[in-house]
Amino acid sequence: MTATPVNNTTAAIQADDARHHLHPFTDHAGLAAKGARVISSAEGVWLTDSEGNRLLDGMSGLWSVNVGYGRRELADVAHAQLMELPYYNTFFQTTHEPVARLGAKLAEVTPRGVDLFVYGNSGSDANDTIVKLVRLFWNAQGRPRKKTIISRSYAYHGVTMAAASLSGLTAMHPQFDLPMPGVAHVAGPYWYGDGGDMSPDAFGIWAARQVERKILELGAGNVGAFIGEPIQGAGGVIIPPATYWPEIQRICREHDVLLIADEVICGFGRTGNWFGSDTFGITPDFMTMAKGLTSSYIPMSAVGIGGRVKDLLMNMGEEVVHGYTYSGHPVAAAVAVRNIEIMQEEGLVERAGHDIGPYLQARLRELASHPLVGEVRGIGMIAAIEIVEHKPSRAHFDPKRGAGMICRNHSFANGLVMRAVRDTMVLAPPLTITRAEVDILVETAARCLDLTQRDLGR
Ligand SMILES: Cc1ncc(COP(=O)(O)O)c(C=O)c1O
Repeated sequence: MTATPVNNTTAAIQADDARHHLHPFTDHAGLAAKGARVISSAEGVWLTDSEGNRLLDGMSGLWSVNVGYGRRELADVAHAQLMELPYYNTFFQTTHEPVARLGAKLAEVTPRGVDLFVYGNSGSDANDTIVKLVRLFWNAQGRPRKKTIISRSYAYHGVTMAAASLSGLTAMHPQFDLPMPGVAHVAGPYWYGDGGDMSPDAFGIWAARQVERKILELGAGNVGAFIGEPIQGAGGVIIPPATYWPEIQRICREHDVLLIADEVICGFGRTGNWFGSDTFGITPDFMTMAKGLTSSYIPMSAVGIGGRVKDLLMNMGEEVVHGYTYSGHPVAAAVAVRNIEIMQEEGLVERAGHDIGPYLQARLRELASHPLVGEVRGIGMIAAIEIVEHKPSRAHFDPKRGAGMICRNHSFANGLVMRAVRDTMVLAPPLTITRAEVDILVETAARCLDLTQRDLGR
């Protein structure tokens, strides 16, 4: 019997995809009309599509392929683990070597005290787990009313019911009757967009005090936790002023509010340290990890737990009634361990902090003089180029003009993956990118800004 030949032309893949695949955050009629771009392979920082076009991936997939594409060792480790033990669960008082080793490996790199881990499959489910553990914690303290979690505008924490509720991108709520009760939002620390005449430092204090105002409004006895990404990624690479996180920590301490650092983007070297918490001096009770944990070679997330929550969970004397079929999956755990080892062996975090990160940032700053660029910001291997109509007033273009989308489309057409958040172009290339590739990235970005300027008639 001969196998049916597979039609793998771009058009055939697009047609199957359009018929059967509901994409994340996508208008399907629009996508079906033009056909999805088909990515076929990748190596280093380069993607190749089904038409043979090469694209420099300035976004590491979704801020996540930190060690770059084409790492044979990660494939080998996954293959070996699939042959040895493809799956076993961690319910019923069993464990396996990969998950045990992963905990020990993670504890080498997480901030001191955060060394108890709960595993899942995505950043969203990790945040869901945290919401449950916040409830469990305060229930165990005999304070069942202390449950509201405060989050911020521009926050992105994922798409499950709880994680979408925590997210502060308002478009994520109305279709699903969210946010659910028990979540409150305050202004995020977006100085460039919202800081007005305040200095960055004064605005950082102002924004942190919005959290305190909300706590006082709701009553500290009703507020269980605060959640924040050290740098807000999907909201537009919003880097808080230096005054923000110290004030947030003071407020959480004073009002006995647990602190959740969502490290899904910032973790695993992105900001030039292992975690954004290291970069900003945050001591979290919970840390959300995903993406860079396995460099996205395979899905996995982890919740890191420290302090009094860890003490409670370790000494409850009763079941914690939570866990997934795939919690600590052995293949994912084996890949995560090897991924972290690669980062350690190659000094990728130090490289992001002291070598290629500063180089990327310095080269991107050259774009600040472009007529469309209001601000270039970034740290380590995460950056943003904010497009404005009027530099002195920091005024944006009318959103209907789609300045960010125009720039993004030029970027793809010119061989660079750069994403638009409103009119802010965001970048987060693999930590392995070379200086020569950074040069290509920056020169392509400059060309795309010129083309965008031309299209906007400026
Ligand atoms: C900060 C942050 N938290 C959570 C998530 C959700 O992760 P996932 O898409 O793996 O569910 C994301 C995804 O981009 C994120 O950026």
